[in-house]
Amino acid sequence: MAQRTVDEQSPPTGVATQTARRRSFAVISHPDAGKSTLTEALALHARAISEAGHVHGKSGRRHTVSDWMDMEQARGISITSASLQLMYRDTVINLVDTPGHADFSEDTYRVLAAVDSAVMLVDAAKGLEAQTMKLFAVCKHRGIPITTVINKWDRPGREALELMDEITERTGLTPTPLTWPVGIAGDFRGVLDRRTGQYVRFTATAGGASIAPEEVMDPEVAATREGEAWETAAEESELLAAAGAEHDQETFLAGISTPVLFAAAVRNFGVHALLDVLVDLAPPPGPRPAVDGGARAVEDPFSAFVFKMQAGMDTAHRDRLAFARVCSGVFERGMVVTSARTGKPFATKYAQQAFGRDRSVVDEAYPGDVVGLVNAASLQVGDTLYLDKPVEFPPLPTFAPEHFATVRAKDAGRYKQFRRGIAQLEAEGVVQVLRSGLRGDQAPVLAAVGPMQFEVAQHRMASEFNAPVELEPLGYSLALRTTGQWAERLTAERDVEVLRRESGELLALFPGQWRVRSVQRTHPDVVLEPLVAA
Ligand code: G4P
Repeated sequence: MAQRTVDEQSPPTGVATQTARRRSFAVISHPDAGKSTLTEALALHARAISEAGHVHGKSGRRHTVSDWMDMEQARGISITSASLQLMYRDTVINLVDTPGHADFSEDTYRVLAAVDSAVMLVDAAKGLEAQTMKLFAVCKHRGIPITTVINKWDRPGREALELMDEITERTGLTPTPLTWPVGIAGDFRGVLDRRTGQYVRFTATAGGASIAPEEVMDPEVAATREGEAWETAAEESELLAAAGAEHDQETFLAGISTPVLFAAAVRNFGVHALLDVLVDLAPPPGPRPAVDGGARAVEDPFSAFVFKMQAGMDTAHRDRLAFARVCSGVFERGMVVTSARTGKPFATKYAQQAFGRDRSVVDEAYPGDVVGLVNAASLQVGDTLYLDKPVEFPPLPTFAPEHFATVRAKDAGRYKQFRRGIAQLEAEGVVQVLRSGLRGDQAPVLAAVGPMQFEVAQHRMASEFNAPVELEPLGYSLALRTTGQWAERLTAERDVEVLRRESGELLALFPGQWRVRSVQRTHPDVVLEPLVAA
């Protein structure tokens, strides 16, 4: 839910103006790279306007009020996504939070449909890690421009040039460093600003609790002051220049090159530079492609799509909250919009009730902003909402599940609650639900990208729908898309099963790649297509 503090001044009017001053981005990283720390550092350097849901770090930071709060706290992970709105240099920055745990990747991936750019946060000692690579693949698929931040430079790590090589080799992106570290990893003194040639020297503050002072110096002064560390940085920067590693706005926006910054989020080093890059280089919201082949211009009447559903924010009311990204026009609280999927009206008048905190609620939101809509039980992940001029955005991608389990009500007498709960979890995208005539409705198959999605489903079935369930893991690890004409032959194969998604799409499940190969040898004509890789 977008909220605004009461002291927020009236923003300039006009959708085009408002859109031009908005940047919406997500941080993609592997757990522990420092995403929560960076988020807090950004909030320290920019003025936080509002929080949609909560941006929650590890234990002891902020908490979310949700049904599975106990689970989150016990594990010290964040399960739910929301967004944080910041104001920096007259630009409204929406940081859409991605759950950090590898198991919640499906949710994380959907968030990437709601942003216009991403920040790839890399641990200087570890380089590109597994989850970063997976998330990068989704960004690449969607053509999302990426800014790279090498974090934890205050700790011993790899060499900067070596990290640049790794980015080139493993992502195919051309790294174009905007800053270059002065001092090796573990001896972070400041950065060479490669666009001005000047030295930005950082000064540590106690515990990184306040904004780290930055001093800007000319190269001559830097050379005297930092000696060899400066010389090395300057030489390496020249090497980069000779190799053509200079920022190019066109290739950045096309997802071909990536500006690189060096930082130590925990000390608040390099955070201003990131905010400046977001304001100066990251793209504002643009027209959004629609299903009919056209596009919704930002000045068109209001439209948005739901990228995240969240239940139980208020346990007393069993509320459903839908997080929607505004794509065009102005969102005004109280507005009655239409859901493109159902054709039914949806009233947004309760928008303010989601959080009873000491902030006033936003009355307006613009393209790029995230709004939280309460009483959203009729909405589903991927739904388009519009005012006046109908539009429908393409469905959000569903990701290739790798974990499968049958689900059954523990108490057969609670079948009605069971069905309702499963349908709701499916609508929210908590898990994918697969069915077949063979298995019947009593025991559908749950499919997930990460097994913890099952735990959330199980927890909610018991606590929210009063229908405790039993899960029985299945031995499949791979799903491929197929069509009805092949279903019979595939089903006849040992260890292979064909199941139906809610959309009608058929998925063939296999225990592993080896089995796919052997089935394809036996049936070379059978069509099996990969789903979007997660
Ligand atoms: P995540 O959200 O990406 O999972 O990472 P998070 O911010 O929780 O950071 C993971 C750990 O890395 C934390 O340490 C955090 O303090 C540390 N960290 C983040 N940024 C930096 C940095 O720039 N430099 C250094 N040296 N460390 C950084 P922790 O072990 O979980 O807790 P703590 O006891 O160290 O605070």
